[in-house]
Amino acid sequence: MLSRYNWVLKNFSVRRIFNLALVQLSMKLKLSRTLGKPYSIMIEPTNSCNLNCPLCPTGNKSDTRKKGYMTFETYKKVIDELAPYLYEVVMWNYGEPFLNPLTYDFISYAKQKRIPKVIASTNAHLFKDDKAIKKLINSGLDRLIISLDGMTKGTYEKYRRGGNIKQVLETIKKIMATKKALKVKNPFVELQFIVMRQNEHELPLIKNFAKEAGVDALNLKKVNIYMGIKNPAKTDTTKYLPKNDNFIREKIDTKNCPIIKLSTVVNWNGEVVPCCMDYYSSFPLGNTTGQSIKKIWNNKKYVNFRRANKTANIPICKRCNTYVKDINVKLSSETLENTTLKPEMPLENHSKHVK
Ligand SMILES: C[S@@+](CC[C@H](N)C(=O)[O-])C[C@H]1O[C@@H](n2cnc3c(N)ncnc32)[C@H](O)[C@@H]1O
Ligand code: SF4
Repeated sequence: MLSRYNWVLKNFSVRRIFNLALVQLSMKLKLSRTLGKPYSIMIEPTNSCNLNCPLCPTGNKSDTRKKGYMTFETYKKVIDELAPYLYEVVMWNYGEPFLNPLTYDFISYAKQKRIPKVIASTNAHLFKDDKAIKKLINSGLDRLIISLDGMTKGTYEKYRRGGNIKQVLETIKKIMATKKALKVKNPFVELQFIVMRQNEHELPLIKNFAKEAGVDALNLKKVNIYMGIKNPAKTDTTKYLPKNDNFIREKIDTKNCPIIKLSTVVNWNGEVVPCCMDYYSSFPLGNTTGQSIKKIWNNKKYVNFRRANKTANIPICKRCNTYVKDINVKLSSETLENTTLKPEMPLENHSKHVK
C-alpha cells in the first residue's frame, strides 16, 4: 500500500493530473480541438524489422514508406515538449524497436524525464548475450512485451517468419534469471500470444512455459486480420482466425474515438499520424522535426481528422478494432484448461470480422 502511494507521489505531478482531467473532459464533450495534451505517445524507433510476419505492414513489405531509424535529436525534441504531460511512452509502431541501438537511450531518457510508464514490445531476437540483457534491464524499461505466437518451431514460424523459437525461449529464461540475480522487479515481463488458427492448440503449452520461465504475465491477444492489408476487400486473411470464438475481436463502434484525443504516434522520421491503425501513414498530420508537437496536436489537419472520425467515415476508423480486450491468463492455476476463458461480452455480441 505504502509503495503504491510512493509510486504515485514520485510519478504524478499536478500538471500531469490536470492534463489528464482536460483529456477526459475533451472526450466527454466530444471536442475535435482538444483541451489537453497527449497523455500517451507511441514512438517508432524504426520501421525496419528482422522478421517477416505476414499480417504486419513491415513484415509483409506492403508498407512503401522509406526505411529509417529515429535520431536522438528527433526523439528528444518530442519528449522535451511533452514529458510534463505524458503518462506513458509506447516504444514501437511497425518495426523491431531494438534494431535501433538508440532505443535503450530513448527509454532511459523518458525515465529521466519522470514519465511513469515506458513500454516496449519485441520479437526478442536481439538480446543475444548477458551484456545485451543487462543493458535492457538497466535501461529503466517498465514493461516488456515479448511476442511469442507459437510453442513449436513449425507453428511459431508460420507467423514469425524468419524467427528462431529456440533462441527466443532461451532469451526469455535468461531475462527472468538476470532479473532475479539483479533483484529487480522491472521490466515487468509479459508474454504475448496472438491466438490464431495455426497456434490455438498450443495454448496449454504457452501457459506451462510461462509458469516455468516465471514471467510476470501472459496475455492472449486477439488477432487483427486487417493489419498490414492494403486492400481488405480483395485479400482473404480469415485463415488466421481461430476456431475458438472467445478469441475473435468484437466489432466496435469507432465514432468519437478516445484514442485520438489522448494519444499520438510519431514515426521514425518525426512524422505524426493519428494512431497505430494508420498502417501506411495515410493521414500525416505534421512533422515534429520542423514543428512543435503541441502545435501539431491541434492543427487544422488533426482537428479535421477528429471531426471526420465523429461519423467514422474514414477507412482506417471503419476497420478499427483497437479497443478489444485481450485475455490475461491466471498463471497460478495448474493448466490452461483450469483457466476460464470468459469473453468480455456475451458471445452473441461477438461478431466475426466484417469487411
Ligand atoms: C508491429 S509489432 C512491433 C513490435 C515488435 N516487432 C513485435 O513484434 O513485438 C507491434 C505489436 O503488434 C503485435 N502484432 C503483430 N501482428 C499482429 C496481428 N496480426 N494482430 C494483433 N497484433 C499483432 C506484435 O506482437 C506487437 O506486440
Ligand atoms: S510484427 Fe513485429 S516482428 Fe513481426 S514483422 Fe512486424 S515489426 Fe517485425
